[in-house]
Amino acid sequence: LNIDREQINCFVEAIRDNTGTDLSEYCGNTLSARISHRLSQIDLDPDSYLNFCRNDPDECQTLVDTIAVNVSWFFRNPIVFEIIAQTILPRLIAKTKTIRVWSAGCAGGEEAYSIAILIRDLLNSLPNAQPQALVFATDIDQEVLAKARTGYYPQKSLSDVKMRFVEECFTPKGDGYLVRPSVREMVRFSTDNLLNDQTIAPAESIFGSFDLILCRNVLIYFSAERIKKVIHKLYESLATGGYLVLGESEDISRDLKARLNTVDRRNRIYQK
Ligand SMILES: C[S@@+](CC[C@H](N)C(=O)[O-])C[C@H]1O[C@@H](n2cnc3c(N)ncnc32)[C@H](O)[C@@H]1O
Repeated sequence: LNIDREQINCFVEAIRDNTGTDLSEYCGNTLSARISHRLSQIDLDPDSYLNFCRNDPDECQTLVDTIAVNVSWFFRNPIVFEIIAQTILPRLIAKTKTIRVWSAGCAGGEEAYSIAILIRDLLNSLPNAQPQALVFATDIDQEVLAKARTGYYPQKSLSDVKMRFVEECFTPKGDGYLVRPSVREMVRFSTDNLLNDQTIAPAESIFGSFDLILCRNVLIYFSAERIKKVIHKLYESLATGGYLVLGESEDISRDLKARLNTVDRRNRIYQK
């Protein structure tokens, strides 16, 4: 189903009026695709659905949740985590007293916990004085953050986790797995809107200076103009020498290419 720009604007308006969530700077194609997805579930044409949404805050909230897809899993795209474990973290551990990581758009926390698992593993292998590590994880969606804080996941979220890590970092519980306290205590979850111009890093982190920022599969939601602004915000939040990791179909804007070293082009890893 094709939804034109004018209809998209009407949906954005209905969502704003009914939920207070402003999606006006989201990418038109993403909005159109996600609204179409919802339409196919409920079997309505765009105009009837729009009228329905205008009078139904619950449906507007469902639509917001449908648009901000928060699908994630542990060690999503394992090669990226392999590079982080083999190259990036050892370098950071060698030079930093407190390693600061930001998982921006963390969904259910799988990415943040995956990084914590790798850091914990490396630190455990060090004989002497150990650096500290803090992983800040933020999302716009409070419901998904509440889930992240429980640290409880279905088995299918763990399908890319090495057996050794499953045994060392998770406790089986019911049908799923619970992240162990030694990993959980490294991660702090908080609400943050990446489109908020007022802040650089999440307030909870006491501002910026991150050694590693992961912002993967989040920029796909935003308009080109916004992507540029968000990437600048991430750049400003990085410490000198810090690393930025984007999702596999996401790229930095041209003006930042000159200021960031490309560590791995295919895997979208950059260094300030
Ligand atoms: C597909 S998930 C990505 C999760 C994880 N980074 C990964 O790659 O598996 C995208 C997340 O971005 C969040 N998001 C969308 N818009 C956002 C915004 N303006 N600020 C912060 N997070 C946002 C969504 O709520 C969702 O949880």
